[in-house]
Amino acid sequence: MKVLMVCLGNICRSPLAEGILKAKCAEMGLDWQVDSAGTSAFHIGELPDPRSIQTAKDNGIDITDQRARQVSWDDFEKYDLILAMDSSNFRSLTSMKTSPKIKMMLSFGNGVESDVPDPYYNNGFDSVYNMLENACEGLLKTYSSSTTLA
Ligand code: 4NP
Repeated sequence: MKVLMVCLGNICRSPLAEGILKAKCAEMGLDWQVDSAGTSAFHIGELPDPRSIQTAKDNGIDITDQRARQVSWDDFEKYDLILAMDSSNFRSLTSMKTSPKIKMMLSFGNGVESDVPDPYYNNGFDSVYNMLENACEGLLKTYSSSTTLA
């Protein structure tokens, strides 16, 4: 399974989502390809936000190898699932291409929230982490049986 996590800047939410899903795949021995990207070009080439780096680190995950990039046309071919962190990102993606591969990240979550709130101006990184972890678990329940164990 090839999964692309998408938010606006690719420095706060989607890098955490990428890090969490990669860690869970490693634990489960799943040979998935996971990446993240932003719908905007605001932060191309930058490290994840220091608050995302710290939140990941607090949970035993290192995301400092990640660098922000923008979603590209090739991504719609390359990935099986393109997961939008919020409805604004979802609209940006579907305006690039209409595809059943594009889904809301929290459609795999606990059914309470639909958007992962943008923590850039508001903080709330721990709550974002918990939502993403829950959605990654839902995602793995949905798709892990159909993929090869490493
Ligand atoms: P992200 O958060 O989409 O979760 O990476 C944001 C990062 C940067 C900005 C907005 C949201 N910005 O406006 O620069």
